[in-house]
Amino acid sequence: MANNVWTSFIRWSIVTTLTHYAVIHNTGVSRRLLRYRTRYLSLLNCLLSPRNMAMTVKVDSYKYLSGFGNHFSSEALEGALPQGQNAPQKCPYGLYAEQLSGTAFTVDRRHNQRRLRQDASQRVAVHQAWLYRIRPSVAHLPYAFYKKIHPNFASSEMQYIPNQLRWSPFQLPADDSPVDFLHGLVTIAGAGDPTVKNGLAVHIYACNKSMEKRAMYNSDGDFLIVPQTGRLDITTEFGKMMVEPLEIVVIPRGIKFSVHLPQTHARGYILEVFGDHFELPDLGPIGANGLANPRDFLTPEAAFEDKDETWKIFNKYAGQLFIANQGHSPFDVVAWHGNYVPYTYDLRKFNAVNSVTFDHMDPSIFTVLTSKSAFPGTAIADFVIFPPRWSVQEHTFRPPYFHRNCMTEFMGLITGQYEAKAKGFLPGGASHMTPHGPDADTFEKASNEKLVPARVADNTMAFMFESSLMLGTTPWALSTEVLQSDYEQIWSGLKSHFRTNK
Ligand SMILES: [Fe+2]
Repeated sequence: MANNVWTSFIRWSIVTTLTHYAVIHNTGVSRRLLRYRTRYLSLLNCLLSPRNMAMTVKVDSYKYLSGFGNHFSSEALEGALPQGQNAPQKCPYGLYAEQLSGTAFTVDRRHNQRRLRQDASQRVAVHQAWLYRIRPSVAHLPYAFYKKIHPNFASSEMQYIPNQLRWSPFQLPADDSPVDFLHGLVTIAGAGDPTVKNGLAVHIYACNKSMEKRAMYNSDGDFLIVPQTGRLDITTEFGKMMVEPLEIVVIPRGIKFSVHLPQTHARGYILEVFGDHFELPDLGPIGANGLANPRDFLTPEAAFEDKDETWKIFNKYAGQLFIANQGHSPFDVVAWHGNYVPYTYDLRKFNAVNSVTFDHMDPSIFTVLTSKSAFPGTAIADFVIFPPRWSVQEHTFRPPYFHRNCMTEFMGLITGQYEAKAKGFLPGGASHMTPHGPDADTFEKASNEKLVPARVADNTMAFMFESSLMLGTTPWALSTEVLQSDYEQIWSGLKSHFRTNK
């Protein structure tokens, strides 16, 4: 602990001194320093704490409730939450009562709602919340079409191609081109159809401006947001959350939110699922603990504002964006209770398990959250991470194996250097794969290195969205200049080692 405090103090001192110098002298170099302060902080983290990514400094004054899937209660004003019933004739403080449903009213309370699943899970499948607010959500002007976010994934606009694809870091908007989170969102890939609530989409966001008097909600599905650079200060109907790279946030279907940028810019990835909500993976023989532990998921406490001012509300509906004006803040929920809530999770708290004997285990051991399909053991999308860890397997080719997968894999890199791709797969970039595996240099190195217990992925966090559906690629993703034209070359050096004697 003392070491943590000491390194944090050194880091804070250096950055503060440099930043003050920038403000006082206003030099070109210093202005760049201000702009890229987050990047300098990351560099300092590497220098001062080469093995421990848990020591980044985060300022977060918001309050949270701990647990995954809990039925929470929260009130920003004492006594705002009705007791003993959901819809009293008159609510405390003159509030309106409004229910938000995340599942059908009739969904089975104890058993999972999927008709083809064989396991009789005892998880509560009902997702709902009651909100007590200054005005009900229905108080808005009509929605009008604004723009298309993504094509229908069954349309001819989409390309379903068997090639490996990789993108260099997706570009941030220029300083003189203000773009907020909503307008900086582009779709890379997708499958299925939100209108029948089956499928997924993969988006990138890149922005340099806060959403001012603008909020959005998604009728198509749940957003799992993976920040890659820049913090996100997110206001939701349930309260406020501060998230940074190496954390994720989930905003379920229908919940309004607005993204403020505490820093100059932000970029990251979004996994959207159209069907069931995200849940923790089953642990099976692992036991009752491990992977992402429930208590590390944080849901915001109620917070509200009472402002009569014009807000623009955006709604993603069947891949399109609609806009409506309303004369008050949508973040006017004074109290709420329920289990249908937004939440955040720190990836550094993931409790990884792995082989302590031999062979490279399948990456499903690193599943953080899953959105299950109707088929047993099969996901519409798994969110999987590759965290810093020890590698100790004996007589084993330790990097990720060569692989042909009936599932579709979409990978991204939050920070560091991924163990199977020494070059070309960069933070803020992505890859979309059919047959895949380590590049030639990694293969040669791993095939010949002396096997001793070794750290893997220090200061690195790669992740994967893995889906049972075939992902199509959008026209934008295939035309962007950051699409690498020579990705397949990384495997061109894989030569034959075959010989007739063993
Ligand atoms: Fe794979």
